[in-house]
Amino acid sequence: MKRSKVTLLILLWFRTVISSSSLPNIIILLADNLGFNDISLFGARSINTPNVDRIGEQGVQFKHWNSAAHLCSASRAALLTGKYPVRTGIYPGVFHADSVYGLLPTETTLAEYLRELGYATSIVGKWHLGHNTDFLPTNQGFDEWLGIPYHASGGSVEDHVCQYDRNETMWLPLYHNHRIVQQPVNMHHLAQTYTDRAIDFMQRHRHEPFFLYFPFSHVHQFTFVNAVEEMDWMVGKVLDTIDQLGITNNTLVLFTSDNGPWVAEQECSGSKGPFLGRWLMDHTAENCTACPHDYNPDPNVFRQCLLPNTTHRLQGVHCGADTGLGSLWEANLRMPTVLQWPGRIPPRQESPELFSSLDVVPTILSMVGQDTKHLSFDGMDMSDIWLHPSSRRTAGRVLFFWRDGFQSGPLPAPYGRMDVAAVKVGRFKAWIWTKSAHYNADVEVYHDPPLLFDVENDPAEAKPLDPQEHVNLLRSIPIWIEQHKAGVDWTFPLTLAKDPRLVPCVDQTTGCRTAVSYSFYPEVTL
Ligand SMILES: *[C@@H]1O[C@H](CO)[C@@H](O)[C@H](O)[C@H]1NC(C)=O
Ligand SMILES: *[C@@H]1O[C@H](CO)[C@@H](O)[C@H](O)[C@H]1NC(C)=O
Ligand SMILES: *[C@@H]1O[C@H](CO)[C@@H](O)[C@H](O)[C@H]1NC(C)=O
Ligand SMILES: *[C@@H]1O[C@H](CO)[C@@H](O)[C@H](O)[C@H]1NC(C)=O
Repeated sequence: MKRSKVTLLILLWFRTVISSSSLPNIIILLADNLGFNDISLFGARSINTPNVDRIGEQGVQFKHWNSAAHLCSASRAALLTGKYPVRTGIYPGVFHADSVYGLLPTETTLAEYLRELGYATSIVGKWHLGHNTDFLPTNQGFDEWLGIPYHASGGSVEDHVCQYDRNETMWLPLYHNHRIVQQPVNMHHLAQTYTDRAIDFMQRHRHEPFFLYFPFSHVHQFTFVNAVEEMDWMVGKVLDTIDQLGITNNTLVLFTSDNGPWVAEQECSGSKGPFLGRWLMDHTAENCTACPHDYNPDPNVFRQCLLPNTTHRLQGVHCGADTGLGSLWEANLRMPTVLQWPGRIPPRQESPELFSSLDVVPTILSMVGQDTKHLSFDGMDMSDIWLHPSSRRTAGRVLFFWRDGFQSGPLPAPYGRMDVAAVKVGRFKAWIWTKSAHYNADVEVYHDPPLLFDVENDPAEAKPLDPQEHVNLLRSIPIWIEQHKAGVDWTFPLTLAKDPRLVPCVDQTTGCRTAVSYSFYPEVTL
């Protein structure tokens, strides 16, 4: 059984070797559903992201950084705890407005570890790990929070969401700590509100170590290009602030994304770039159509999707092309990740190393002088490579990729079960089960021996390697998977419990709206 959180924290506290005045500030900037090729530094053609690019130019560009999970809530839990989501119970699917649970208070987040070391901690933006009292960020190590509890689509201001909006029962709330301060949230001002809050936090804590976790509620809304560029503007404001405060050389800034593009949302989604998932496209029935959230394929019209009980219809995409969010194809795993710490890391470095978001907690703890050997993480301490990106490649590292969306298993449809569907070892990726994203009609396909790709030289996953030439690797993979699964201590599936009475509502008598009208929102005092 796990050691208690309190014991771990006391241990950490005693092991603090660096005085808090020399601890670096930590800033984690997290994009939502941003693809690898959606920043200009990594090849976006019609999007300009000069500020995110600036981080990569001042530090390290990671070319094989993997999201730890296929969906938002799970990926965020893994980033903040360093553990696979089956261990923390953040599966299947994601948390919604009527969810009962969230990341359990017994889990220890990066914010809790850092707070024990004397850091001031703040989250500005999208939490997505539970909105009921016990699960709020302020119960997970963050001194303060301004942001939204779950995804921005659904219940927001009409013209700022991608698809038709089922608004009336689920107005999106804006929280300050444990209080709703605005409902529905005003998307028009959200970027400015977040930015002001983040700057204010950094200014207030410029003389002590701080941890700012800034998960942007982009990119679900507006037009995609505008959303990314607005997010980039926010990144620029953060970088300008640390420059103005004279703390840039003592601040580690990491930018990454939680998972890849939500392909079925089409014009509201990012790009797959070269990560086409070609094999699936070539092996999926042409009449299988993937639809945006809440829509279903129209049985009578090829590639058309219908919103149930309405006349809203949209064009769908081929299931074989639906290889972003929800899937384990490269477009959903490769994250646009850049890091700067000008005092410690030389500029313009590039790393082809296999990284995972699971590494963030152990790596950062190591970089702030903590001995992490007594803690157990699924991620690894990669600080040697973060600090010296050209140093080495970790031969033999194995990353396991779990997903849901199977035909059979103990979980209700469309989840089925959680299972390891793919594995990465260096440049090799082996598939045990192939499938597109969740809610499509295509059925998972089992591969024995595993379907093997060299994702460094074949990022499109187009040409499976000859199994005869990789006999030892293919023989080892099922054994590694069995060992990994046998070592997993499961938590029950926390996202399944729902209760409509728990949908956040500031005031039933006003139809869940705050009294302040949209037009003068910035005057709301927080
Ligand atoms: C959502 O809100 C808008 C404006 O408040 C309203 O016109 C529209 O009918 C609402 N949609 C639904 C599904 O209730
Ligand atoms: C696709 O076509 C096949 C063969 O004609 C049929 O069996 C299947 O039901 C169709 N699937 C869909 C989703 O229409
Ligand atoms: C659509 O309407 C039917 C019958 O009126 C109802 O049973 C069903 O729940 C509705 N579906 C949705 C998604 O609202
Ligand atoms: C920050 O670090 C860079 C690179 O080492 C150095 O050139 C610069 O002078 C430093 N700035 C300050 C204010 O110390």
